[in-house]
Amino acid sequence: MNHAQAKERVNKLKELINEYRYKYHVLNESIMSDEAADSLKHELSMLEEEFPDLLTKDSPTQRVAGEPLPGFKQVEHSQRMLSLNDVFNKQEVEAWFDRISKNQPEVKPDFFVDIKMDGLACALIYNDGVLEFGVTRGDGFVGEDVTMNIRTIESIPLSLRSKTKFSNFLSGRTEVRGEIVMYKADFNRLNKKRQSQNLPLFANPRNTAAGTVRQLDPSLVAERTLHFRAYDLLRDDPSEVPTNEFAYEALKSLGFIANKSAKSLSSVKEIIDFADEWEQKRQTLEFNTDGLVIKLNDRAIFDRLGVVGKAPKAAIAYKYAAEQATTKVKDILVSIGRTGVATPVAVLEPVLIAGSTVQMATLHNEGEVHRKDIRIGDSVIVHKAGDIIPEVVEPLIKLRTGKERKFIMPIICPDCSVKLVKLKADDAAWRCPNKSCPSRTWKQIQHFASKEAMDIEGLGEKNVIALLDANLIKDTADIYSLEAKQLINLERFAEISANKLIKAIQQKKEPSLARLLYGLGIRHIGVQTAIDLAQHFKSLETIMQATIDELAAVDGVGDIVAESVVEYFAEPANLDLLSKLKRLKVWPKQVVDSSNGKLKGKNFVITGTLTNMSREEAAEKIRNLGGKFQNAVAKETDYLVTGDNPGGSKILSARRLNTTILTEAELLKLLD
Ligand code: IVH
Repeated sequence: MNHAQAKERVNKLKELINEYRYKYHVLNESIMSDEAADSLKHELSMLEEEFPDLLTKDSPTQRVAGEPLPGFKQVEHSQRMLSLNDVFNKQEVEAWFDRISKNQPEVKPDFFVDIKMDGLACALIYNDGVLEFGVTRGDGFVGEDVTMNIRTIESIPLSLRSKTKFSNFLSGRTEVRGEIVMYKADFNRLNKKRQSQNLPLFANPRNTAAGTVRQLDPSLVAERTLHFRAYDLLRDDPSEVPTNEFAYEALKSLGFIANKSAKSLSSVKEIIDFADEWEQKRQTLEFNTDGLVIKLNDRAIFDRLGVVGKAPKAAIAYKYAAEQATTKVKDILVSIGRTGVATPVAVLEPVLIAGSTVQMATLHNEGEVHRKDIRIGDSVIVHKAGDIIPEVVEPLIKLRTGKERKFIMPIICPDCSVKLVKLKADDAAWRCPNKSCPSRTWKQIQHFASKEAMDIEGLGEKNVIALLDANLIKDTADIYSLEAKQLINLERFAEISANKLIKAIQQKKEPSLARLLYGLGIRHIGVQTAIDLAQHFKSLETIMQATIDELAAVDGVGDIVAESVVEYFAEPANLDLLSKLKRLKVWPKQVVDSSNGKLKGKNFVITGTLTNMSREEAAEKIRNLGGKFQNAVAKETDYLVTGDNPGGSKILSARRLNTTILTEAELLKLLD
C-alpha cells in the first residue's frame, strides 16, 4: 500500500471506528460486534505504525476510557478504577510473569484467576456495613452516582451480612467492586418481548446492562433483571485483605456472588489449562465472558508493583480468540456441490479467527450476496464459531473506495460449462444439471465414503480427487475394484497407506440400509430420513419400488422428500450405479427391527467426544434399540449425552429445557 492509499484507508477506518464508538458508548447502540471493531482498530494501528505521520492525537487508537454521562452526580473514586492489559496466548502470560520476576525476583508464582465477566464495572461503598453509594467506573477517577438504580439489583446486599468471621468489614468504610451483568437468558427473553412489541432490539447483554444502569428512571432498572458479581474488596487499611483468595472468601461471606470457579494457581501451565478449560465451557456460563483475569494473589506485592498507564502491572486479562474479524474479499467464486447446487463462496485475504486461518467463507446463494450487497474488493466482517463454516456477516460499506465490483452469478457451471438451472422458479439456488460434472462426482464419492455414510477411513477429498485424476475411478462403485498396486503409483500413496485404504474400502461392503441410502446422496435425504425410510421399508428393493404416496406415508417424510426419492430411482444412471454396486457385492445387510426396542420414542443428542465408541457407532446403537438421534437439543430431546469437551450451547439448551444429561457411562448402561 502506498502513502496515499494508506491515508485514504486510515481516514475511513477512523471515521467508521468513531461512529461505532459514539453509537456504542454514548447512545448504547451497536453497529457491529466489539470483535469486528477491535479488528478494525488493529488494522488502523498497524497502518499508523507503518506510516507514523498518519497518527493523529484524535485517532481512536489513542483513546483512554470514556467520560461520565451528564445527568448523574459525579463521584470521585477513593482508589482509581483501573483497566487491564490484554494478552492472547501462553507466551504472553509467561512474558508478563518474567517481567515481574526480573523486576522483583522474590515474587513467587502465586496467582489468582477468575473468569472475566462482560458487563460494566461498579463500585459499592458500604459505611458501617450499610450500602451508601453505587458508582460506575466512568473514566477511572470519577464515576457516576447510580445508587438509586443499583439498589434495585437483588444480588446487591443493602447491608453486609453480619455474624461472620469477617465482622471487621462491618465497621468503617468497605468498598466492594464487581461487574454488573445481564444473564444471557434474561437478555434473550427481553429481546423476544421487545420483538413482539415491535420495539428495536438490544445489541448484546453488556450494552443493555450498561444502558439500564445509566437510566435516569430507576423503575425501568427494576424491570430488567441485572446481577452484581463481586471481584474486589477494598479497605482503608489494605493489610486487612492480604490476598485475592482471601478477598473472594470474605466477599462470599459478606453476602455477594463471587465466581465459584475463581481460584489460586501456582504456575503458568495451570493458568493455561484453566483458560483452555473455560474457553471450551464458557457457553455454559449464565453470562458472557471473553477471557480470564489473572492477578498476583498477594495484595501487598500487587500494590508494590504499581501501575503503568491505566493498568496494574500485577494483573492481566487473558483474552480468548475472537469469533469475528474483518478482512477483504479478494474474489467471489462459485462452488458446485454434490447435488449440483451452485454456492457463491468468498475468497478472503487470510485472517485468523478463533484460532484458525480463514480463507474462504460461504455466501449461501446469489440472493444472499445481493441482499447483503457483498462486492469483490469489499472489507467485510467474517464470523466463525466452533465447527461451523465461516460466513460473511456484512460488508463495511463506508470503507469502499469505488473500485469494488458487483458479483455476477455465472450462467454456466464453472467446472463443466453446462448451463446452470433453477429447478423451480422460486428456488434460491442455481444448480449444475450435469450428473457427470467433475465437481459433483468427487463430492458424491466423498459423501458416499463419509463417516455417517459408508464410513471409509482415508477416502477424503484429496484422495478421491487423486483417484479421479489418475482415471482409476469414474464413479462411486469403481472404488470397490481398486487394487493396492494401482494406488502405489500415485504420489499420495505408499505401500502401507495403499493397503490400508483398500482394506478400509473392502471392510465396509455390507453397510446398514440407512447408511447406504444416505450415502447415495439423494437430495433431501439426511441421516435421520434415511433411517426412517430404512426402518419402514426394510430393504433397498422395496424403497426403489415405492410410490410417492407410500413414501410420504412414512413418519418424518414429506412430499418433497418422497418426490426426490422417486426421481432418484427413476434415473437410469442411478439404477446402473446400483446394479454395479450389487454386482460388486456392495449391498445392505438385513435391517434390525427396532420398532419395539427399549429406547422406542426416546430422542438423544450427543455432545463432545465419547471414549468407548464413535458418535456414529453410538447413534447406530441407539437407533437399533428404537431410539432417535438428533443433532441439536430441542423440546422433544429426552437425553443429552456428554463426552469429553462438550459443547456449551447444547448443555445450556438442555438445562433450559430440563433435558436429562447423561454421562457416557450412563449411556452405556442404557444401551446394555
Ligand atoms: S479484577 C485492575 N475480575 O474487567 C482491575 N475484573 O479490564 C482488576 N472484570 O475493570 C479487576 N470480570 O470491570 C476483575 N473477574 C474479574 C472481572 C473483572 C470483569 C472487568 C472489570 C475491570 C475490567 C478490566
